[in-house]
Amino acid sequence: MQPETAEAPLSDHEIALIRASVSVVAPLAEDMTVYFYAILFARYPEVRPMFPPGMDAQRGRLLRALLRIVDLVDDPESLVRFCGHLGRDHRKFGTLAAHFPAVGECLLAALARYVGHAWTVDIAAAWAKAYGVIAQVMIRAAEQDEAVRPAVWPATVVHRVSHGHGIAEITVRPHEPYEYSAGQYVSLETPWWPKLWRYYSVANAPREDGTLTFHVRAVPGGSVSDALVHRAAVGHVLRLGPPMGDMVLDAAVHEDLLCVAGGTGLAPIRALIEEVARRGERHQVDLFLGARTGAELYGVNDMLRMAQRHHWLTIRGAVSHEYIPGIRGSLPDVLSEYGPWYHHDVFLSGPAAMVMSAGETLTLAGTMPDRIHHDPFETPVLSAP
Ligand SMILES: Cc1cc2nc3c(=O)[nH]c(=O)nc-3n(C[C@H](O)[C@H](O)[C@H](O)COP(=O)(O)OP(=O)(O)OC[C@H]3O[C@@H](n4cnc5c(N)ncnc54)[C@H](O)[C@@H]3O)c2cc1C
Ligand code: HEM
Repeated sequence: MQPETAEAPLSDHEIALIRASVSVVAPLAEDMTVYFYAILFARYPEVRPMFPPGMDAQRGRLLRALLRIVDLVDDPESLVRFCGHLGRDHRKFGTLAAHFPAVGECLLAALARYVGHAWTVDIAAAWAKAYGVIAQVMIRAAEQDEAVRPAVWPATVVHRVSHGHGIAEITVRPHEPYEYSAGQYVSLETPWWPKLWRYYSVANAPREDGTLTFHVRAVPGGSVSDALVHRAAVGHVLRLGPPMGDMVLDAAVHEDLLCVAGGTGLAPIRALIEEVARRGERHQVDLFLGARTGAELYGVNDMLRMAQRHHWLTIRGAVSHEYIPGIRGSLPDVLSEYGPWYHHDVFLSGPAAMVMSAGETLTLAGTMPDRIHHDPFETPVLSAP
């Protein structure tokens, strides 16, 4: 695949104009989002079916991402990387090159309204140029992607296991070959919530039969997670978007790995451990599993079985809200009792608070931040550095 390149970069003056207007509209982003979609759907009703029927607060992602991405205009490398991912990922929505001018026009109209009196011809020109650069990178990445793989992969549910506590393990078989690396995540659409895409980590290293297993926890009031846990059954067909994420084994430079997982955060860690076993490399893997109670200590038996097969794998559990024989305490506390970990590559996965506090504990104890790997906490592009 050819590397994508950004078009002519913006001048310092144009960047300053854009940043100044972002700071004006940022506090008004919610209202601006409502206005943006209202005019987009009124002027271009043909794009409405691409979006979910209910436009909840999460719909702010497109606009938030735009405001976030324009902040990368003076960092062409990051801009190309993030917009490239975004462009490839937009193929699953059915987005075409022809849709970009419509979004750009409505974005500028919304900005003009919310920047108010301070809006000038020069600001409008700077925004038009920045949007053009972003759109160009997204369109080019999507076109290159189209030449090599599908936009979406229908996948039939072939196995389903309920683990209690609102967690289910769902195995699907994609109808077309689906290439990914252990540790990556996938966006997924169910038949019950069309157009609602959510990310789930694959819990296994690539298998010969091409199947993928997901560990899903139904969140209270959740749409997609609830449908997956309580409705999905063998024979149902889901749709997968392209694989994403850099939490892969090739990101590790050290021989020894420290893996820390909370809840269904175990999924990508499990895939990484399977990958270590598959490759037969000489890694020592220390895995810490955390939960509030012993009963919630998810996946521990499965991992203990793996540890029986692989002498290089050590498992420790940490339970924070209940006394049971064994280790007690929150994951970060328990981590600091062991170690040192500064000669390890670290893979963290689980609730954002756990990942952040474990990362802080390890950094304070000497682990270099670039050796700590974890997935983004929400829409990946919004986690751009
Ligand atoms: C990179 C990445 C990987 C992920 N991997 C997995 C995975 O392997 N397994 C898994 O079960 N989930 C995973 N998630 C979370 C998943 O993408 C969804 O966010 C989650 O299933 C909720 O979707 P929903 O449609 O059911 O809830 P929504 O309808 O989007 O939200 C309903 C309500 O639940 C709240 N909510 C949303 N997410 C959470 C959450 N995680 N915890 C508590 N409350 C929440 C919302 O704020 C809202 O109030 C991952 C997320 C990311 C970003
Ligand atoms: C520079 C232009 C654009 C940017 C930066 C952008 C950004 C984003 C982002 C960040 C998301 C959320 C993705 C996620 O959660 O995984 C999103 C969703 C979406 N975008 Fe775009 N987008 C752009 C252009 C377009 C265009 C031209 C269309 C077509 C009309 C489009 C249609 C959609 C749809 C249908 C969704 C999913 C609905 C939703 O969850 O809100 N986008 N976009």
